Amino acid sequence: MITKNVEKAINEQIKREEHSSRIYLSMASWAERNGYPGAANWLYVQTEEERIHMLKLVHYLNDRGGTAVIPSLDAPGSDFKSLPDVFHEVLKHEEYISASINDLYAICTKEKDYTTANYLQWYITEQIEEESTVRSILDQIRLAGDDRGGLFMMDKEFSTMATAKRAALALSGGANAVT
Ligand code: FEO
Repeated sequence: MITKNVEKAINEQIKREEHSSRIYLSMASWAERNGYPGAANWLYVQTEEERIHMLKLVHYLNDRGGTAVIPSLDAPGSDFKSLPDVFHEVLKHEEYISASINDLYAICTKEKDYTTANYLQWYITEQIEEESTVRSILDQIRLAGDDRGGLFMMDKEFSTMATAKRAALALSGGANAVT
C-alpha cells in the first residue's frame, strides 16, 4: 500500500509528464509551421514518449492501491523565437523534470517506500538519456550555425533521429508496454 505523501507526489509527477507531452506538442506544431519538418517529427515522437511516461505512473499508482488523478493542465507556450530557442527550452524543461524525479525519489526513501524508489530507477535512467540527447542536439545545432542553410541541413538529421526514435519506441511496445 502506498502512503498519502507518495501518492500525492506521484500524482504531481503524472501532471508534469502530461504537461511535458503538451509542451512538446506545441513545439512540434511550431516547427511544422516554420519549415522544420524533421524537428517537428522528432518533437511529435517526444510527445508520445512523455505520454508513455505519464501512463506508466498512472498504472503504477493504481496497481499499488493508490488513486491516479487525471489533472487539468495550463496551456503550453506557443511562441518560439527560433529552432535553437526551442531546443534550449527542451533542455531547460528536461533538467526541471530530472530534478522533480529526484525530489520524488527522496520522498519515497523518506517514507521508506523502497518499492516505488526502485520503480523510479527507470525514470532516473531515462532522464540521463533525455538530457544527454538534447545536449547533443544543441551541440549539432551550434555546429550547423544559425543561418537557414545550416539549420536546413540539421533538420534532415532530425528526420533520421526521429525515425530511429520512433522505431525504438515501437520496439519497446509503445503505449501497449505500460498496461
Ligand atoms: Fe518524461 Fe522527458 O521527461
